Amino acid sequence: YPITAPENISNCVAADVGFNTEDNVRGSACCPPTTQTTAVPYVLPEFSELRVRPAADRLTPEYIAKYQLAIKRMKELPDEDPRSWKQQGKIHCAYCNGGYSQYMSGHPELKIQVHNNSLFFPFHRWYLYFYERILGSLIEDPTFGLPYWNWDNPKGMLLPEMLEAPYPNPDPTRPPNPKFNPLFDPYRNVAHLPPAIVDLDRGNTGGDKDCVAQISENLTAVYDQMIADSTANPDAFFGTNPDPDPTKIIAGKIESGVHTAVHIWVGNPRMPNNEDMGNFYSAGYDPAFYLLHSNVDRMWQIWNELDIRNVNPSNDDWLNASFVFYDENQNLVRVYNRDCVDIERMGYTFEPSRLTWLQARS
Ligand code: C2O
Repeated sequence: YPITAPENISNCVAADVGFNTEDNVRGSACCPPTTQTTAVPYVLPEFSELRVRPAADRLTPEYIAKYQLAIKRMKELPDEDPRSWKQQGKIHCAYCNGGYSQYMSGHPELKIQVHNNSLFFPFHRWYLYFYERILGSLIEDPTFGLPYWNWDNPKGMLLPEMLEAPYPNPDPTRPPNPKFNPLFDPYRNVAHLPPAIVDLDRGNTGGDKDCVAQISENLTAVYDQMIADSTANPDAFFGTNPDPDPTKIIAGKIESGVHTAVHIWVGNPRMPNNEDMGNFYSAGYDPAFYLLHSNVDRMWQIWNELDIRNVNPSNDDWLNASFVFYDENQNLVRVYNRDCVDIERMGYTFEPSRLTWLQARS
């Protein structure tokens, strides 16, 4: 059976975050608003111009300002608005911490989990798709493209500077301060702010190293997961379908590799649960999450283009798996994996960056 999430969103239950409630800084009330409860099938809209997702490290000051304004407006929406920053953050928690059961797959006793299996890439692609459209609509820019944090390129291997840049104080007599920046998140590892270099293999080959060694290790990690381990091997790249027997499920290489490494690297180890980025239930509250995933999404697209044998899953359970989201018009819609395999049909593309890791065979 395909995973069908969920047939009626009022069946959503509070998330199981697996730790003490007093340690739970982001809350486990992760269900979406139920102004609508059953979703209508989503039809990819017509458009006249592709959105181009730019590399975060090459944004112009104008682009940064536009992106900050969009996030600011998202944060100003009332919490119960399905487009609000809080509701967008909750989506991750609901789909990853047991908000929904697998009723339609014949296993109501099992929870839907979009990680460590082949739902990872399509779920996050749709999640970002609507997030990007909501941001664009809040600034009336139908071509707005969500930046990608190109941590696979040496130039992008630090936390994007705009996330922690000073921002005008609402009181103009006071100096600018990063905490007013809409992209700021108080729960990040301060030891990993720029100029720290991201550790994409989680220190696998030993502790502290100089930045040249870290960069080359990062490139090798990307090479291994994109090419050495995954060429002509969709199960390795995507992971395998969810299964009632957990021992049968394999997580994809990029998901369990560089993607998880970035999450852990950004999250604050001094928080009780590595909030925000270091935990499923809280990750969606950090703007860095969406930049990280924009690049994860780009990795999927690049993998498809790298080798003719790099094909998407073609089994019906994968193609027909579905999720529900509120779109930019606050309509509850159901989307299917089969409709997210062609990003240009979905209306966006990525600004190219050099794939330095192509030469990083170990
Ligand atoms: Cu839903 Cu980066 O994880």
